[in-house]
Amino acid sequence: MTVLVAYASARGSTREIVQHIADRMAVSLGGVECRSVDEVESVSGYEAVVVGSAVHNQRWLPAAGQFFDRHAPELAKRPVWAFNVGMADALPKPLRQRAAALQQARLAGAMPPDIQLQGHRMFSGVYTSDQMPAPLRVLFRLMGGRFGDLRNWAVIDAWADDIAAELAEPASPASSGNATT
Ligand SMILES: Cc1cc2nc3c(=O)[nH]c(=O)nc-3n(C[C@H](O)[C@H](O)[C@H](O)COP(=O)(O)O)c2cc1C
Repeated sequence: MTVLVAYASARGSTREIVQHIADRMAVSLGGVECRSVDEVESVSGYEAVVVGSAVHNQRWLPAAGQFFDRHAPELAKRPVWAFNVGMADALPKPLRQRAAALQQARLAGAMPPDIQLQGHRMFSGVYTSDQMPAPLRVLFRLMGGRFGDLRNWAVIDAWADDIAAELAEPASPASSGNATT
């Protein structure tokens, strides 16, 4: 089996997650390729595809959107999982789950309709203070917001393992689900 794990990343945190997922899935599945979405000319040689994109301004990065549009007919014929990397866990605690769920619904709604995702997750990435206008930083912290590397590798590993298990045994009723983190 050859699986494509592709990324659209502006500052590298999504690329690192995708590389990590690809390495982990390769242990159980063997043929797993990690590529930037820009490098992929065709998905027809892959049996399954996993795509991760950073979120900018509540949207997929343009390169990810272009990837889905360009390959929609082929993606529609094979299992596809997707995830987004954002900043939900940087927000004050009471807002995190709700913000992630709203954003996830918006991002899923932007997919071409013929691509039926097997699973779609939101992960938190790296959110540093320089990504927020200086005058807002103090207020953000006072409200309970935080900056830093917010990636939860245990959650990411569990999701990757669920996908690998489904691909290793396609008839399994196991599901990688749609829950947000
Ligand atoms: C210009 C800009 C806009 C962003 N907009 C959002 C957003 O709308 N929602 C969100 O959850 N995170 C947003 N973020 C946070 C990033 O998605 C987060 O830092 C992620 O880890 C970036 O991934 P990358 O390192 O692969 O580029 C934004 C970051 C930047 C720099």
